[in-house]
Amino acid sequence: MMREGQSAVINRADYIAPAYWIDTVDLSFDLDPAKTRVLNKMTLRRNADVPAEPLKLDGEELNLARVLVNGQGTSFRMEGEQLVLENLPEGAEAFELEIFTTCAPVKNTKLMGLYVSNDSFFTQCEAEGFRRITYFLDRPDVMASYSVTLRADKAKYPVLLSNGNLVEQGELEGGRHFAKWVDPHKKPAYLFALVAGQLVSREQRITSRAGKEHTLQVYVRPGDLDKTEHAMNSLMHSVAWDEARFGLSLDLERFMIVATSDFNMGAMENKGLNIFNTKYVLANQATATDTDYSNIESVVGHEYFHNWTGNRITCRDWFQLSLKEGLTVFRDQEFSQDLCFEPSARAVKRIEDVRVLRTAQFPEDAGPMAHPVRPDSYIEISNFYTVTIYEKGAEVVRMMQTLVGRDGFAKGMKLYFERHDGQAVTCDDFAQAIADANPASDLARLLPQFKRWYSQAGTPRVHGTGVYDAAARSYTLTLSQSCASTAGQAVKEPFVIPVGLGLLDADGADLPLQLAGEAAPVAAPRTFVLTEAGQTLTFTHIDAEPVPSILRGFSAPVVLEFDYSDAQLLHLLANDIDPFNRWEAGQRLAVRSAIESIAASACPAGAEPLNDAYVQAMRSVLRDPALDAAFKELVLTLPGETYIAEQLDVVDPQRIHAVREAMRAQLATALADDWAVVYEAHQDNGAYTPDPLSSGRRALAGMALTHLCIAATVSGDSVWPGKTYQRFKAAGNMTDRFNALAALVSSGHALAAEALPRFHAMFKDEALVIDKWFSLQTGAPDRGGNILPAVKQLMKHADFSLRNPNRARSVVSTFCQGNPAGFHRADAAGYVFWSERVIELDAINPQVAARLARALDRWSKLAEPYRSAAREAIARVAAKSDLSKDTHEVVSRALA
Ligand code: PHE
Ligand code: ZN
Repeated sequence: MMREGQSAVINRADYIAPAYWIDTVDLSFDLDPAKTRVLNKMTLRRNADVPAEPLKLDGEELNLARVLVNGQGTSFRMEGEQLVLENLPEGAEAFELEIFTTCAPVKNTKLMGLYVSNDSFFTQCEAEGFRRITYFLDRPDVMASYSVTLRADKAKYPVLLSNGNLVEQGELEGGRHFAKWVDPHKKPAYLFALVAGQLVSREQRITSRAGKEHTLQVYVRPGDLDKTEHAMNSLMHSVAWDEARFGLSLDLERFMIVATSDFNMGAMENKGLNIFNTKYVLANQATATDTDYSNIESVVGHEYFHNWTGNRITCRDWFQLSLKEGLTVFRDQEFSQDLCFEPSARAVKRIEDVRVLRTAQFPEDAGPMAHPVRPDSYIEISNFYTVTIYEKGAEVVRMMQTLVGRDGFAKGMKLYFERHDGQAVTCDDFAQAIADANPASDLARLLPQFKRWYSQAGTPRVHGTGVYDAAARSYTLTLSQSCASTAGQAVKEPFVIPVGLGLLDADGADLPLQLAGEAAPVAAPRTFVLTEAGQTLTFTHIDAEPVPSILRGFSAPVVLEFDYSDAQLLHLLANDIDPFNRWEAGQRLAVRSAIESIAASACPAGAEPLNDAYVQAMRSVLRDPALDAAFKELVLTLPGETYIAEQLDVVDPQRIHAVREAMRAQLATALADDWAVVYEAHQDNGAYTPDPLSSGRRALAGMALTHLCIAATVSGDSVWPGKTYQRFKAAGNMTDRFNALAALVSSGHALAAEALPRFHAMFKDEALVIDKWFSLQTGAPDRGGNILPAVKQLMKHADFSLRNPNRARSVVSTFCQGNPAGFHRADAAGYVFWSERVIELDAINPQVAARLARALDRWSKLAEPYRSAAREAIARVAAKSDLSKDTHEVVSRALA
C-alpha cells in the first residue's frame, strides 16, 4: 500500500544543526541524457557543537559507483535512500569525501534534479532536488563553496553554464568540450544550477552605482532571441532599483537568466544563474499580452532580489521559507509599484496584489491546507510553496514597514544584512533586526505579539461598529478582532493589526482626525494599531455622522466586517481618496447583490441582480474623466466566482455562476452605450508599449468589447461581434488580439468557432500562445455543461501533452481550478475527470499533481450533491497505492 516512510512528518521543533559541515564541493559532470556521470569531491568536518553522529547523506534515484574517504575505499551502508558513513576520521580535522554516481536525466519527468528539456540539460534543486544529482547534506543551513566542471558533446551542447564565474574552457577528445565554473559565494545546495545546450543569449554590459561593471545575459533557444528585450530591461531595472531603494548591489561579475519550457514553477533564483519558465521570460508584442509583460517584470525582479534576500542570507530550515519568499514578494511588489510613474498606477498594482491574496490565500487559510506563515510541520516541503508563504508572508513584511515607516524599514534591512550576511537564519532573526533598527517603533514595542502573524494560521476578522453622538460631536469606532480555529490551533491570541483609517464628511472629503484626549487634530490618513481583542477609538469635533474608510490600502491581511449601508458604500465608491477602499466599496456592493440573488430561489434568464444605484455608479465611474482606465477596469470587474463562494457558508457553484453571468449581462446591456463610447475612446494607434497607462487603456477597451459582445448576444445583434472579429484579425499586438478573441469566446458568440482555429494556425509554433489558446477554451463560461467535453476533446489535440507542466496547467488546471461552473457538475463527471488526471499526473510529476489535487480543498463547503461526490473523488485518489508524498499529503489533509 503506502511506501515506507511516505507519511513521515517533519517538525520544526525537531530542528538540530547538522553533524557535519561541507566546506567545499568540486563537481564534475559528464553530461549524457541517458547516463550522466557525476563525481563529487567534498571537504567536510564535524560540527563540534552537536553530538558526534554518523554522516548521513541524502540521495534519490542515484546509482552509486564509488565512495572514497581521503582517497581510500571505505565501508558504507544505505538507510532507506540515505548513504550512511560511520568510519570517518575522528576529531576536528577536515577530510575529503569522493562520491561517484550516475543518473538518467532523460527519464527525469519530475523536473527535479538534472533533467532534459528540448534536448538541453537543466537543473532544479529547490527545495530538495540536489540529492537527485549527488549524495549530499541537502539542507539549506549547509553552505559550501562550489567549483563545477561540465563536459559534454560540443555540437549538441555548445553552451555550458553553472553558478559564478567561468574560469576555464576548452576542447576535449571525441568532439567533446568542457567548461569550469567557480562560484565565489558560499551557498546552500538548493541554489546550485547547471545548464547545457544549444542556446543563444542577449547580452548587456552595465555599470553599477558603485562603478562596477557587470555582464547581464538572457539565454533562450535560437528562435526566441527577439523575445528577450523586455526581460533584459526588467533585469536592468531590478539591479538599479535594489541599489537605489536598499543599497544592495549585484555581487557577481556575470548574472544569467536561462529560459526553459519545462519547469514546475515560475522561476528559480540559483546563484548567478536564474532558471526561468519561458512564460516569465519571452515576450514580444505579437505573442505576449500586457499581463505577460507585467508578470515578467515582477518575476525577473523577484528572482534578482533573491540574490540578497534568499541567497546572501538564506533559510536555516524549510520552515523558514517565508523568510526569503515573503520578503522577496514584498520586494518585487514594491519594485513594480515604484516603476509606476503615476500614483494611480501604484494603487492599481496594490489592488491586483490584494485580489490575488483574497481569492487564493484566504481560501487556503480557511481550508485543509491552512498553515502558519512559518509552518510547524510538513510531509513534503514542495507542498508549502503556497500563497500563504508567499503572499501572506509579503503582507506580514508590509505591515512591518507600515509600523516602522519606509525609512525605518530600509534601516532594518541594513541591520539585517550587517548581522546575518552569509548566514542561514530564521524569521525571528529578520523580525528582530527590523525591530532593533527601530527601537522606538510600535513594532519594537509589540514584537512578540506581532510575531503571531508567523505562528498562527487563519485569516483574522476585524469587526467594526460606528456610533455618532451629535450632542458630543463625537464618532466612536469600535474595532474587535477574532480568528477562527484551524487544525491544531483551537484558540488564537490577538494579532497586531495596523488599521489605515479615514472619516469622510458628507462632501466626501477626509476629516481631520482628533482622538479624545489629543490636543490637536492630525491630518488624515492615519494608521491605528489594533492589539486587543476589542478597542474603541473616539474622534472628537465631528459635526455630522461621517462615513468611515477602514483598512485603507488594505493595511492588514484581514477580513473587515462593517455593516455599511448601500448609501455609505456608494459614498466611498464616489469619493474616497484611498483608491483601494474606493474599489473595495464597489466590490462590497456587488457581493451584496450577488449573495441576495443566490439566496433567492432561482436566477431566471434575463434576471437583473444589480440595483439601479449600483448600475448608475458604474456608469459614473466609466464616464469619470479623472479616473484612469486601469482603475475603471478594476472597478467594473465583478468579484470572481471563487471570491463570492468564500463569502458563503454553503456553496452552490452553479448558482454563483448563473448569478454572476446575469450580473455581467446586466452591466453589458444597461451600459451598452457607454461601453461603445469607452471602446472607441481607448484606441491607441501609436507604437505598442506595455506601460501601465497604455495597458490600462487596452484592458478597458477589451472589457468594453466583451460587454458589447455579451449585449449583442442577448439582443441578437451582429454588429459588435463582427467588429470584434475584424479587430481580432487586424490587431497590432497580442493584447488587443487576444482580448478580441476572448470577447467572442466569453460571450459565446458563433464567430468564436471561426476565430479559434485561425488563432491556432497563426501561432502554431509559439508554445506560450498555444497555452493561451488552450486555457481560453478550458476556462470559458460553462453553458449547459459544454466545457468538460471540450476539455476532453482538447486533450486529444496533437499539441496536448500532460508531461509539459505549462500545457497540463493550461488545460487541466485551468478547468479544475479556474472554471468552477464547468468543473462542479451535478453529475460528478468533473470530479471523476479530476481524480483520473491527478493519478495520471502523479506518476509523471508529483509536484504538478499535488497542485492539481488542491482543486477540491474547499469540498466541505459545497452544497449537495457536490459535497458528497467531491469527497468520494478525493477518497478515490487517496486510496491509490504508490501515491507520491506530495499528493498523499494534500488528499489526506483534505479528508482529515
Ligand atoms: N524559489 C522560487 C521562487 O519563488 C520558486 C521555486 C520553488 C522554483 C521551488 C522551483 C522550485 O522564486
Ligand atoms: Zn521566490
